[in-house]
Amino acid sequence: MDFDIDPTTTILGIETSCDETAAAVVSGGNDIRSSVVSSQVDLHARFGGVVPEIASRAHVELLTPVVAEAMVSAGVDNGGIDAVAATVGPGLIGSLLVGVSAAKALALVWDVPFVGVNHLEAHFYASFLEDPTLEPPLVVLLVSGGHTMLVRFDDHGKYRVIGETIDDAAGEAFDKVARFLGLGYPGGPAIDRISSEGDPHAIKFPRAMYDEGLDFSFSGLKTSVINHVRKHPEVRTEDVAASFQQAVVDVLVHKAKKAAVEHGAKGLCLGGGVAANSLLRERFLDACTEIDVHGFLPSRSMCTDNAAMVAAAAWYRLRDDGPTPLDVGADPNLGLKH
Ligand code: KG4
Ligand code: ZN
Repeated sequence: MDFDIDPTTTILGIETSCDETAAAVVSGGNDIRSSVVSSQVDLHARFGGVVPEIASRAHVELLTPVVAEAMVSAGVDNGGIDAVAATVGPGLIGSLLVGVSAAKALALVWDVPFVGVNHLEAHFYASFLEDPTLEPPLVVLLVSGGHTMLVRFDDHGKYRVIGETIDDAAGEAFDKVARFLGLGYPGGPAIDRISSEGDPHAIKFPRAMYDEGLDFSFSGLKTSVINHVRKHPEVRTEDVAASFQQAVVDVLVHKAKKAAVEHGAKGLCLGGGVAANSLLRERFLDACTEIDVHGFLPSRSMCTDNAAMVAAAAWYRLRDDGPTPLDVGADPNLGLKH
């Protein structure tokens, strides 16, 4: 069903799938009028990871002020909002429900459509938001705390997963290794920082499945790091972090390049929290130059969870599929439709 939509259609997006409470106002799918992200990282840090019950309670407290701030900084009141969107999955069920319930309630009260958005699809839109000239076919490397996948993107709403992790996600490996090394939570930024003082060639960690198709495996690498440190307790943490990061990035970049070539992609994009990694960003752009495809890196704030990408994805969903029925619930295991 097509919906009457135009470049001025303004969407309030809400994101509460994990530990960021976020709201944003985006017009026409790419004009970011405001984007507010309230991170709960301090609440979870002392537990070494996200505690679902704490996350959902914090979303309940933070969501109203975050939505209010997004509306005020966009300079709109409820009369200026044409639809309300929220992430419906994948994510933590208690957290998702807070955003989905709030978005449905606002849509009902304001008498505008509700749009349910897939969090993984939203991550693609971080690229379209910042570079609307991106032309399909594209290959997107989506690397977050929960997912590691290569996606072939043929058009809005038309994509398929062409490679994914068979065990841990890349971000999960960063978080687990950082925790083992005593670097705290979240692990990705900590390893990124400390790696600049280490030697990336100090330890030769394995590159699992390097020459096997487009799937990934990171759990063996995590185990190798643990075994190495236990065997060599005198090793410099900086060298372990830098060598680990090098191994992850080598595999990610190699497979992204391979996917772009095999699928004749015109462009290669990065998405998800791990796309904020300094070495990955540098090596990714070099790889795009090498194979002569248009490379695009969203800004760091667009890589991690935010609601602007949710509102952008919702604009295309509304255009192509119309409003989402209000009886659609949150789905913690929602996959990407193929
Ligand atoms: O996309 P995201 O914000 O949330 C999920 O949907 O999972 O990704 C969070 C993940 C965490 O595992 C975090 O450690 C990782 O992204 N991350 C990084 C960096 N910044 C965030 N990993 C490596 N280097 C970074 N600079
Ligand atoms: Zn995410």
